[in-house]
Amino acid sequence: MMTSDHLIPYQNRIEDQLSRAIATLGQTSKLPEIMSYACLGGGKRLRAALAYLSVETLGLDLEDADTTAMAVELIHAYSLIHDDLPAMDDDPLRRGKASTHIAFGEAEAILAGDALQALAFQVIADDTRLSAPVRLALVRSLAQAVGANGMVGGQALDMASEHRSIDIDTLTTLHRLKTGALITFAIGSGGLHGRCKPEHAAALTEFGRTLGLAFQVQDDILDETSNTATLGKQQGADKAQAKSTFVSILGLAGAKDQLAILFTQAIEGLHAQGLATEKLLSLVEYVRERSH
Ligand code: IPE
Ligand code: IPE
Ligand code: MG
Ligand code: MG
Ligand code: MG
Repeated sequence: MMTSDHLIPYQNRIEDQLSRAIATLGQTSKLPEIMSYACLGGGKRLRAALAYLSVETLGLDLEDADTTAMAVELIHAYSLIHDDLPAMDDDPLRRGKASTHIAFGEAEAILAGDALQALAFQVIADDTRLSAPVRLALVRSLAQAVGANGMVGGQALDMASEHRSIDIDTLTTLHRLKTGALITFAIGSGGLHGRCKPEHAAALTEFGRTLGLAFQVQDDILDETSNTATLGKQQGADKAQAKSTFVSILGLAGAKDQLAILFTQAIEGLHAQGLATEKLLSLVEYVRERSH
């Protein structure tokens, strides 16, 4: 079974890549310091690991995924800064330390998020290891995954669903967008290099859709069942904000049943396409067993 040890090589690699990318930014303002605070030295790096596993599974080089892995973690870090703002979830704690707006102020946090997002697209566009058409495909697909029809669209639905009950289909769409879309892009990204069978690319994307939904269902469950120290973020935040979650709609037992079904589905899909590599199965196991 994958323990968090299996993620360490990817975690080290992405940490190194991200610190080098931020070091290239000019020092005309405090932004690089704030960006470093938000995106270095923390996080499970699941999305980066998925981007690396995507190229590995398809027989490409790890180097092919460096900028994509950076991009997904940069976008993710920006989304967390904004997610924690008083106007959104109003969370003071993230990754075991003060949220960025608490540490540096709201305006600074918003701007650091904006700059992280721009850097995500820039690192891919600048990656001369990749052909121009591959860079374009990655940038386009990432923009699709994080924009109004992706992550940000999901965040908008999330905000609109506070203090009201929504049906399970709407909640599923919300989760697929706010969390699933970026995870799906990460694991599907290897397929955009155009060097694998289309069925394999499609299977990885389908796997990402299921894993991405499962990941957010589990985030909802952990918000209910875990504790602040383990999570590194405020436990009970969803209830405090009257969020619509899998737990609020299906109850804890119902959400856990749904989660088990999703993990089974994710694994079956990989087997069906002969993509159930030891590394991918281990990653699913790691995600299933995670406590934060
Ligand atoms: C938290 O994501 C926000 C969600 C989309 C559920 P992670 O649980 O991957 O957060 P880090 O990167 O490990 O801190
Ligand atoms: C966050 O969902 C989704 C994005 C940041 C896009 P949550 O609001 O549930 O994430 P946590 O629980 O604060 O990490
Ligand atoms: Mg939120
Ligand atoms: Mg939140
Ligand atoms: Mg949450």
